[in-house]
Amino acid sequence: MSPQVTFHPKGRSIEAPVDTNLLEAAILAGVEINSACAGKGVCGRCRVVVEGDVDSQNTPRITEEDRSNGYRLACLSKVKGDCIVFVPEESQLKPMQIVGGKVSTDLKQISPLVRAIYAKLRPPTLQDNDADLERLLKQLGYEPGALEVPLSLLRELPRAIREGEWTVTAFLDGNILVDVLPWNVVSRNFGVSVDIGTTTVALQLVDLSTGEMISQVSDYNRQLMYGEDVLARIMYSEDHGLERLRHTIVDTINHMLARVCNTGDVCVGKGKKVCAEEIMAVSVAGNTTMMHMLLGLDPKCIRYAPYTPVTNLSPRINASELGLNVNPRASVHLVPGRASYVGGDVVADVVASGMARNEGISLLIDVGTNGEIVLGNNDWLLACSASAGPAFEGGEVCHGMRAGDGAIEKVSLKGGVEYSTIGKVRPKGICGSGLIDLLAQLFLTGVLDKKGHLQPSERVRDGEFGKEYVLVYSKDVERDGYDVKATGMSCCPTDKVERRRDITVTEEDIANIVRTKASLYAAAEVLLDTAGIDFTDLERVYIAGGFGHHIDLDNAVAIGLLPDLPRERFTFLGNASLDGAKLCLLSQEKREEALAAHRAMTYVELSTDQRFFDRFSSASFLPHTDLSRFPSIEQIRG
Ligand code: FES
Repeated sequence: MSPQVTFHPKGRSIEAPVDTNLLEAAILAGVEINSACAGKGVCGRCRVVVEGDVDSQNTPRITEEDRSNGYRLACLSKVKGDCIVFVPEESQLKPMQIVGGKVSTDLKQISPLVRAIYAKLRPPTLQDNDADLERLLKQLGYEPGALEVPLSLLRELPRAIREGEWTVTAFLDGNILVDVLPWNVVSRNFGVSVDIGTTTVALQLVDLSTGEMISQVSDYNRQLMYGEDVLARIMYSEDHGLERLRHTIVDTINHMLARVCNTGDVCVGKGKKVCAEEIMAVSVAGNTTMMHMLLGLDPKCIRYAPYTPVTNLSPRINASELGLNVNPRASVHLVPGRASYVGGDVVADVVASGMARNEGISLLIDVGTNGEIVLGNNDWLLACSASAGPAFEGGEVCHGMRAGDGAIEKVSLKGGVEYSTIGKVRPKGICGSGLIDLLAQLFLTGVLDKKGHLQPSERVRDGEFGKEYVLVYSKDVERDGYDVKATGMSCCPTDKVERRRDITVTEEDIANIVRTKASLYAAAEVLLDTAGIDFTDLERVYIAGGFGHHIDLDNAVAIGLLPDLPRERFTFLGNASLDGAKLCLLSQEKREEALAAHRAMTYVELSTDQRFFDRFSSASFLPHTDLSRFPSIEQIRG
């Protein structure tokens, strides 16, 4: 018999063959463990506490003290016999906050991807015995043969028409008959818009007859178990095949669909919960790799020069071809992308921002696991991708975490150390907006020099990984007003799943954040240079991405992430990709706008552009080597 492995706090047990690594065992048990490097043993995120028969490799990611307390890296540990694995809070993937966009998606007129048309047919007689389909087309105002009709629908058509006693709802996507349902059973028409991010997935359920958003949910992309960024996922697909990744993203979306519409519910009419069968249209925006994985297209060539995707435009797809739990014949529309690293999510941002409709020139920065920049107006668009790294999403930062409960999201050092956490619970780490605040405040108060080196100060100490600034002393957390005992877990010893640590930022963390912000700033400069303009020529700067909700503009300028422009020129869009997907779900004009943006966009490849490397070096300081570019900061620093 194989050894038994039990994971807490979920309390799940599986039998795992000897030598299975614990990360794989967790995946098999349905236990989600943070595994940013996809099990390569370098990110240190898959820390677990183990009791029992396990063989673990030593790693600098686990200190001697932690090792003696039972800490191991799951990906470097092999099952040898029965064991119990405690997954500490820091290593668990937790449910996400709801992430909605900030763009108004109210449209004067809606023309949804799939429209519902009520049709009352004349029952046939011996004198009028036209075929069912022809009778329907005539009633809908179409010539015979003018609509494309799937064979599977044709097979069900006689039943639907007769069950509805010659009254039906026909669902049309352009000149395609998507479905025909008896009017007395289903007469409503719903759609979903989905933003598939590398880290998070957001989904909205929308009434296609009114444009009203009914509900929305966000969750982690379950592919996170296979690596934090797109390259790690592509590498995983090369080693293990694509199917598991494809299945995982479909699974993520299906779980979210179940949450928004209660698929088990019986649908009997208006006012009831939405059934999966009533969802006739799906609009998806995502980066090019995620789109490849959803469609089951081999993403391999995205990884290697000259970085060619299989396609930036998707064919017409039925939901059943993807395995989505909506009406099997529902139309799926993918917002077109432009290049391997500028995907449909960026085009959706452009649609949501409206920048491609304005004469004035705008800059759009989408900060996610990667960074994408678009520059342009209603005449032209330039786009590029900066391999910015995940620092603003908590990656590559020792105590970094994504924006979830317990993440420090705001920091002020003006009157002593003050911070606030998401969910107002005990601080567990620090997310992107908190890191920007912290760096800016450390720099402006002289604790950090412009090269990112910590200066002697009461809270600066030598830590395990070099010099570090202590933002939160674990001993002070209770005094700061947080309930240190509130864990919500009762099935296992809390000291195993919730370790108390000081929350610090090391010089190495700071270097990673500086690299990320320098990359974004330099990428924007290259686009401006290509267009022959300057930051001051910009009419608007749009900041898209989940973390844009919370960031402090002055602090983002102080570290040189954003240009020092009049603050009223900046607009935070939030999750604009989701808004763009929703607009495309609801409007033919917006779908055409997305296609026009795809065609108008010129992609600028930065990986071979010397201008990018020169500007990146200059921007790798706080805020920049040339302080005169940041007059408001020059004034404060003197
Ligand atoms: S160190 Fe184990 S997943 Fe990265």
